[in-house]
Amino acid sequence: MSGRRGSRSALWLALIACGMLAGAAQAQAPAFMPSQETPESLPEGPGREETFYACTACHNFKLVAAQGQTRAQWNDTLTWMTERHNMADIQGADRELILDYLAQHYPPRAPARAGGWRNPFAQ
Ligand code: HEC
Repeated sequence: MSGRRGSRSALWLALIACGMLAGAAQAQAPAFMPSQETPESLPEGPGREETFYACTACHNFKLVAAQGQTRAQWNDTLTWMTERHNMADIQGADRELILDYLAQHYPPRAPARAGGWRNPFAQ
């Protein structure tokens, strides 16, 4: 009788230990995640924080940085985010600031320009 009880409490101890190990692993997890984005990971300039926080409320900034657009196209993108995804309707000075930032740091890619980088494999 006492033997059975003993092994049962040993089992509980093992379960608790496992739980603690799992907890410790979880607490450390963020250290292994490479996608910890901060405004500082974006090019420096006026509007950086505003743009970062406006856009990362829903998705990471990589999605934005992967695009290269003109100011007018960025404007359309913001409108699209508002109409389709319920992004806050940013207007006035804030919108200007964000559009300036995006247009300056994420313009259309080089291939559109003469003498831009060419993919040597895409003949
Ligand atoms: C309220 C949520 C929300 C906010 C805020 C938001 N987006 Fe998005 N965005 C989405 C969703 C959802 C998707 C992916 C689904 C889709 O492509 O329709 C997306 C996708 C995108 C894409 C990828 C489009 C593609 O062709 O793959 C771009 C670029 C983008 N967003 C730009 C922005 C910019 C710039 C901002 C900040 C000014 C912003 N988003 C803020 C919801 C949001």
